[in-house]
Order: sequence, then C-alpha cells, then structure tokens
Amino acid sequence: MFPLPSAGQGEGEGVTSTLYHEENSMYSDIVTEHFKNPHNAGEMADADGVGDDSNPVCGDTMRLFIKVSDDRIVKASFLTRGCGAAIAASSMTTDMLRGLSLQDAARITNKDVANALGGLPGSKLHCSVLAEGVIRKALEDYHKRSQS
Ligand code: FES
Repeated sequence: MFPLPSAGQGEGEGVTSTLYHEENSMYSDIVTEHFKNPHNAGEMADADGVGDDSNPVCGDTMRLFIKVSDDRIVKASFLTRGCGAAIAASSMTTDMLRGLSLQDAARITNKDVANALGGLPGSKLHCSVLAEGVIRKALEDYHKRSQS
C-alpha cells in the first residue's frame, strides 16, 4: 500500500519540513502552497477508478482515486509518497479533474499539470509525468470496472 502523504500529517511532518526547506527555493508559489496544504489528500473508499504509478529512479509513488457520475469526475483524491513537486502535482491534479468529463480528463497531459503549477524545474518535470500516468490508469480502471 501507498503511505499517506506526509505534508502536514503527524509523523511525516518533520520529513516534509526538511524537504520543504531543501526544495522551496526552486518551486513556484503555487507548488509551495499545494505542497504545504495539499488538497484532496487521502484514500477514497468508494472510488470508481484507481490508478497507481511510480518512478523507478526516484522511487516516488502516486495513487489517484476518482468518483464518476454521468461520465463526469465528481471527486478525486490521492495518496502520494514523494517529493514536494509530486505532492503538489497530485493535489493540483485532483483539483483539475473535479467536474471534468471523462473525455476531457483523458486529455490532461503532464505539461498541463506543470503549467497549472506555475512551472516545475527541469529536474522535477517527471513528477508531473507521474500525475499524467495515474490519470490514465485511473480512467482505464474505471472503464474496466464499468464493462464488467
Ligand atoms: S522526485 Fe521523483 S516524483 Fe518527484
């Protein structure tokens, strides 16, 4: 299982705080805000689709949950274990997905996520690639479940 995001959550807070100080200088204000106060963090017990992805190099992991009604994403949440950019990208992704049709959600790219975050440093662009990956996988999972 993927651990809960550490930002602002008890035990992991010290680790997050250390990471924050190391990485803060290279992030936009939007990234910093989402990292410090992630939106929609946590598991969704009644999700209609779940997508997992990870980066084998850095080891960061992301899990996205979506709730769908009438072909529209009505709710999204995440569990991410990773750097500040990965947490911010997860948080932004859940905000972007809410209210979107499944078709529009499928069109979101890592560049859209990075742009919405006010840009990411080159060394952190792969964090937004994880976000695109979990969107694709959560949508695939939703379609698979609705066919069975
Ligand atoms: S450093 Fe790998 S996802 Fe952020």
